Amino acid sequence: MCGIVGYIGRREANPILIEGLRRLEYRGYDSAGLAVAHRGRPKVVKVAGRVADLREAVGAGTKGGTGIAHTRWATHGEPTDANAHPHLDAAGRVSVVHNGIIENAERLRARLVGEGVEFASETDTEVLAHLIGSAVAAGADSLEDAVRAALAPVEGAYGIVVLDGRKPDELVVARKGSPIVLGVGDGEMFVASDVAALVRHTQRAVFLDDGELATVRADDYQTSTLEAEPTSKQPITVGQDDSDFQLGDFPDYMRKEIAEQPDSVTRALRGRLDERFATVRLDGLGLDARELRSIRRVKFLGCGSAYYAGEFGANLVEELARIPADSEPASEFRYRNPVVESDTLYVAVSQSGETADTLAAVEELNRKGGQVVGAVNVVGSAIGRACGRGVLLHAGPEIAVASTKAVTNMAVSFGMLALLMGRVRDLSTADGQRIVAGLRALPEQIQQVVDSESEIAEAAKRCAHADHMFFIGRTRCWPTAREGAQKLKEISYVHAEAYPASELKHGPLALIDESMPSVVVVPDDELLAKNISAMEQIKARGGPVVAVTNAELPQGLADITIRAPRNSPELDPILLSVPLQLFAYHLAAELGRDVDKPRNLAKSVTVE
Ligand code: AGP
Repeated sequence: MCGIVGYIGRREANPILIEGLRRLEYRGYDSAGLAVAHRGRPKVVKVAGRVADLREAVGAGTKGGTGIAHTRWATHGEPTDANAHPHLDAAGRVSVVHNGIIENAERLRARLVGEGVEFASETDTEVLAHLIGSAVAAGADSLEDAVRAALAPVEGAYGIVVLDGRKPDELVVARKGSPIVLGVGDGEMFVASDVAALVRHTQRAVFLDDGELATVRADDYQTSTLEAEPTSKQPITVGQDDSDFQLGDFPDYMRKEIAEQPDSVTRALRGRLDERFATVRLDGLGLDARELRSIRRVKFLGCGSAYYAGEFGANLVEELARIPADSEPASEFRYRNPVVESDTLYVAVSQSGETADTLAAVEELNRKGGQVVGAVNVVGSAIGRACGRGVLLHAGPEIAVASTKAVTNMAVSFGMLALLMGRVRDLSTADGQRIVAGLRALPEQIQQVVDSESEIAEAAKRCAHADHMFFIGRTRCWPTAREGAQKLKEISYVHAEAYPASELKHGPLALIDESMPSVVVVPDDELLAKNISAMEQIKARGGPVVAVTNAELPQGLADITIRAPRNSPELDPILLSVPLQLFAYHLAAELGRDVDKPRNLAKSVTVE
């Protein structure tokens, strides 16, 4: 949520900042701005709109080798030019870009207004600019000291980059709750909220910890705590290069990421399947067989699609390991004073590893001594570090706001977790072998679904007139239906609601008519006859039926049939999810939506 870039070095900052913003635009895209140190002042250009609009507004640009930039997802104040970052202090000397939320901003603003400060925006960030500017004006020994002093009364989350126009040889950054990473170049340094903006220039990155500051110069950096204790941070190699972030021949990232799934699932499985003992190795969990056996309950915690993936995981853990399991929105868990049991394994699920609610749930568990492991895609992310151990998803960088390959890899990882837990309990070798074989078959089977894209696109076009749709599934495929509805809502803005097939007659059937298509997920399992009967009930009321299935259905039952290959019943929901991604994608494309950057949403939700 909000992208930050900074540059200091011998090159012109402007083009580097704008290109960096372009790569971070998925984090927020309602306004953008930059500031470059020029003749003792930060020269600011900012616009409500996309990075492309900023590029146009900047034109030939201001010359200067030190600058900061920002792409915004509005929290305090509407997306307007005035509310776009960077924000300046009263003297127009200090500029700040910020990712996060200052919770006591109103109180601090009132105090500053009482001291005669005039505000130019409605944002919480401007408070930071004025506080830092006042500390500079009061004679702080260094910009870093001024930032430290200004942050002392601040409550909330921040990742900030600060530029003092009179000191173009340094930038100061600080983080608490929102990510900041430094990119170490050769005689130049980069700052960003995400490595996506750095990998074009350098592979060497330093991830700041919460409560850390850094002064960054072209050829060095010094890190310290908010309490001014020096810290020693060495760069690590990022292991991603620019090609991971390129679109190639794809029209957008969502389409690319759907197509990448055979490869990303292969990566998630690599080196983990153990055919000989019909199990898997998940060394990152840090749990041996005895410890795994002592777990009495598993709870998955995540938000949005990560929560639905957790529901799939919970079903699998119950089915394969016969341990009670459930999934709960991390946003609810963190506030309801949950009972934390020492023999429960908590699994924090997050693609970005930054989601504020999931991070808060992990911190609460850590405080209460809960056993928590992460299922995270981004190495070095806040949730990954707060958990300290877990299952890395290995989906590769995911740029589209709608999560596809990361959600699939969550499901695959939970398949492995459930198998591992099952095999230290009562799951037989034969069943273990069946699941291992099923997991191994997934990449090729997902490829078959991707190859059938044109039929799915045709089905989506036929439904593109609908204002409302149902997604129906049950038991194992209930999370699949929920995730299918989620994908459609997010990127097409069509109202989509998921229901268990068994619940239809308890209310939702009243809404069925010829204008309300139902996408019914129908695996070839023990509930096939029940799902067929649900489809008959929908048909009898004139509702169009789209069946997403790997079963043989009675002729004429579905108006449209989308087919997927058959795996093990436990893993079929993964294969039945992929057509739903393509269905949502093509329906949204048919409606002319910006699928990668849907309105009102951002990729990483680092605020409440
Ligand atoms: C997925 O398509 C959504 N954009 C959203 O629900 C997302 O899954 C959720 O915000 C959690 O994100 P995370 O996995 O990065 O924690």
